[in-house]
Amino acid sequence: MATVKFYAGESFPLEMHKVRIIQKLNLIPLDRRGKAIAEAGNNTFLLHNRDVFMDMLTDSGVNAMSDRQVASMMYADDSYAGSETFTRLDKSVKHFFGTKYFLPTHQGRACENILSQIFVKKGYVVPMNYHFTTAKALITVNGGTVEELIIDEGLKIRSDHPFKGDINIDRLNQVIKQYGPAKVAYIRMEAGTNLVGGQPFSLANLAEVSKICRAADIPLVLDASLLADNLYFNKKREAACKDMTLHEIVLKFAELSDIIYFSARKLGFGRGGGICTNNEEHFLKIREMIPLYEGFLTYGGMSVREMEAIAVGLEETLDEDMISQGPIFIDYMVKELDKRGIPVITPPGGLGCHVDAKAFLDHIPQPHYPAGALGSAYYIASGIRGMERGTLSEQRDENGEERLSNMELLRLALPRRVFTLSQVNYAIDRLIWLYENRRLVEGLKFVEEPKILRFFFGRLAPVSDWQTKLIAKFKQDFGDSL
Ligand code: F0G
Repeated sequence: MATVKFYAGESFPLEMHKVRIIQKLNLIPLDRRGKAIAEAGNNTFLLHNRDVFMDMLTDSGVNAMSDRQVASMMYADDSYAGSETFTRLDKSVKHFFGTKYFLPTHQGRACENILSQIFVKKGYVVPMNYHFTTAKALITVNGGTVEELIIDEGLKIRSDHPFKGDINIDRLNQVIKQYGPAKVAYIRMEAGTNLVGGQPFSLANLAEVSKICRAADIPLVLDASLLADNLYFNKKREAACKDMTLHEIVLKFAELSDIIYFSARKLGFGRGGGICTNNEEHFLKIREMIPLYEGFLTYGGMSVREMEAIAVGLEETLDEDMISQGPIFIDYMVKELDKRGIPVITPPGGLGCHVDAKAFLDHIPQPHYPAGALGSAYYIASGIRGMERGTLSEQRDENGEERLSNMELLRLALPRRVFTLSQVNYAIDRLIWLYENRRLVEGLKFVEEPKILRFFFGRLAPVSDWQTKLIAKFKQDFGDSL
């Protein structure tokens, strides 16, 4: 990978693009931030964006498009059937993955819905490196069980393992033996493992999983939503990939998998998704579901303008300057925080900077949602919206008991090419202040708790008046600063 060396002092991320269109941001005053988070039920999903300064909730559908992507949207062909736009997207996806078939969907979870309906039955299991919220919910809804088999290192907050998203091969063999191959619906490998800090898997690990799948006749399903980050790390950290082009790595991933699906809100920087395979039998089964749930086979619920942008976005995903931007900004943020003793997931991964709320707020018991409380406190301190990825993002078990999450994370996503380094420095600064004042922060409790995917709509309240105290301390330290 090309490197730029700096002459004076430390190096810092250097963007290989310039900003040509901007959107104005608002940083509302502290008291209004206190009110806004209360009105949002302490759930950052429920904040109005007009009250948000840096939106670090997610990278989903909010990465910055290139000039070529925006330009491509203008020549979209919106005919219902036989659209030229679909022909272009179809060609681009098939070229990218080297697969024979492509079926469009409206987003990533639509692919998960279709695959779960086809493959998962009551009593079946889906082993995977780690779950993603929607993937797990859709498998469970269809009567299946999820077995998470990520390597032990993957669940350690601090580590120098380059591929924390790898699956534990011994455990995978055990699980297949325990259920019997006929009860294994498929094996799911998630690129850029979202919920454990955007951590990649190695090509070597995927190759081992593929071998097991083929020997046992179990489909290997690759969730390629966060493939761009994974690719960057394969290229950077895996000796076997050093001399491969990015496209050669993608083609190898695809060759090892039986079905690939992706959220194009992440891969391709648009809004949509799709499923690819070389297997005709799988293709025919999946194809039947597209008009039922998504739309006709030439759009699958996507707008033609987004489809054009995705076609270009996939092409640009094979550009090292493009895919490195997220990871180098994340690397910078993680290292700056780590230097100051603020607990973050290491090594830096993709998607965002993940703050370990269990350590940050080690005085808050897990059932009081430390990661949710940190998200709420951080919004008050900075106007920045992050996302809770901890116990709140889990579902209660059949008996209504809390399922305490392995990790309590506040995810601060860095949508690609969206923020400048000075904004990232602001995000770091406010986190440093909050860390100094962490003892003021206490937990949250539900006041409205939906049964499914409760983190999207649930409303919570602070367990005490800690937010008032936090606001008072901020005023004392920052005076009239926003
Ligand atoms: N798989 C992974 C790994 C994801 O990160 C997501 C979405 C999906 C599947 C579902 O895709 O949103 O297009 O339906 N992740 C978003 C996030 C929501 O914020 O991390 P979708």
